[in-house]
Amino acid sequence: MRYLFRPPAADAAGLLALPWHQPLEKWDDSVLLDVPSRGISRHVVRFTASEGSVYALKEIAEPLARHEYALLGTFEEEGLPAVSVVGICVDRPDGLDAVLVTRYLEYSMSYRYLFSSRRGADSAERLMDTMVQLLVRLHLAGVYWGDCSLSNTLFRLDAGSFAAYLVDAETAERHPTISAGKRAYDLDLARERVGAELMDLQAGGLLPSGIDPIDVADSLAGRYEALWDEVTREEIFRPEEQRYRVAERLQRLNDLGFDVGEVELVTSAEGARLRVDTRVAEPGQNRRELFRLTGLEVQENQARRLLNDIRTFRAWLEQRSGRPVPDTVAGHRWLAEVYRPVVDAIPAGLVGRLEPAEVFHEVLEHRWFLSEQVGRDVGTTAAARSYFETVLPGTPEELTTPSAITERR
Ligand SMILES: Nc1ncnc2c1ncn2[C@@H]1O[C@H](COP(=O)(O)OP(=O)(O)OP(=O)(O)O)[C@@H](O)[C@H]1O
Ligand SMILES: [Mg+2]
Repeated sequence: MRYLFRPPAADAAGLLALPWHQPLEKWDDSVLLDVPSRGISRHVVRFTASEGSVYALKEIAEPLARHEYALLGTFEEEGLPAVSVVGICVDRPDGLDAVLVTRYLEYSMSYRYLFSSRRGADSAERLMDTMVQLLVRLHLAGVYWGDCSLSNTLFRLDAGSFAAYLVDAETAERHPTISAGKRAYDLDLARERVGAELMDLQAGGLLPSGIDPIDVADSLAGRYEALWDEVTREEIFRPEEQRYRVAERLQRLNDLGFDVGEVELVTSAEGARLRVDTRVAEPGQNRRELFRLTGLEVQENQARRLLNDIRTFRAWLEQRSGRPVPDTVAGHRWLAEVYRPVVDAIPAGLVGRLEPAEVFHEVLEHRWFLSEQVGRDVGTTAAARSYFETVLPGTPEELTTPSAITERR
């Protein structure tokens, strides 16, 4: 047998002990984790925990495994939202297929859960927009997916909105750029698959009654075109509006979560033609800033939310002491005095239901809600207590991330 692990390969040691010589289907329950089935899949996919981390294992033909391993590796380097690949095992005995190992995407939710839950009833529109965001990002980076579907997408909460991740890159292709025809084809495949998946949910009685599978699937193209146009179109400005219109466009792209590479502005007497080279934002600005201040690694919208809370906290510190407080000091104090106490107070039985940063975000929302009700600020501690008693228990148990389950054992 031959194992290939991507650097830093710290995961390798624990994983080597698994029974690779047996078909995945025959692995003993003692090495597997019971993660509920998440979608339509052709291959045998199993989950395992090793040294506190959870991994997904997929048994597939070696050429496909190698292809997926290589592609997912480049996606990660470029900051494309996809599951993170750990390694592959090939040359298994008895002609067994290869196994692709990816890191379990913590706190991810499948479309099955999202469409059938309380949170999902009103979120079909937002889920479609999130998927389209993912597809536009891939296309901008020259990636043709060839299998864009709800089963191959994982969703995570990001400060109340969703973020989508690619989970299956078997059919994906990498090119310097991809043609409009190829993009349209990718989108058409997505439309077909999403339609079929939603009809499947409907047949199982899992789709809220107001949602029509065909309408939702058909809406993908329009959403995609709107976003693609927004991020790639050339614009003509009059000379006098040039400065603010350029700034406005760049800001809008940042707000949508894209970075701007080269900006080309060609001016003439009639005005200026602006062309921007839009890129996939590699860990967003807010994520980087929050990491610098606190060492916390969260998603972009969560980071924006937490940074706002740090700013408020800093202003309060300055007002109290009458002196300026450096942002790094404010960041560290906020972490120790505000954020950690909330996260540490999550009742043991509810740990792992939602990402800690998402819990904090929801506590801030809850604080606002309670404060509105009583007409004064109730403070974070009281808000957290009430949230843990009344809101968090409503999050379904199945959502608990597998690593929290293994830690509790
Ligand atoms: N790293 C991961 N983290 C979380 N869930 C995962 C991960 N890898 C796989 N899954 C879950 O397992 C399911 C199946 O995985 P995947 O799509 O890669 O295989 P497949 O569906 O058998 O391949 P195909 O789409 O070619 O049939 C996914 O829909 C996803 O819900
Ligand atoms: Mg799949």
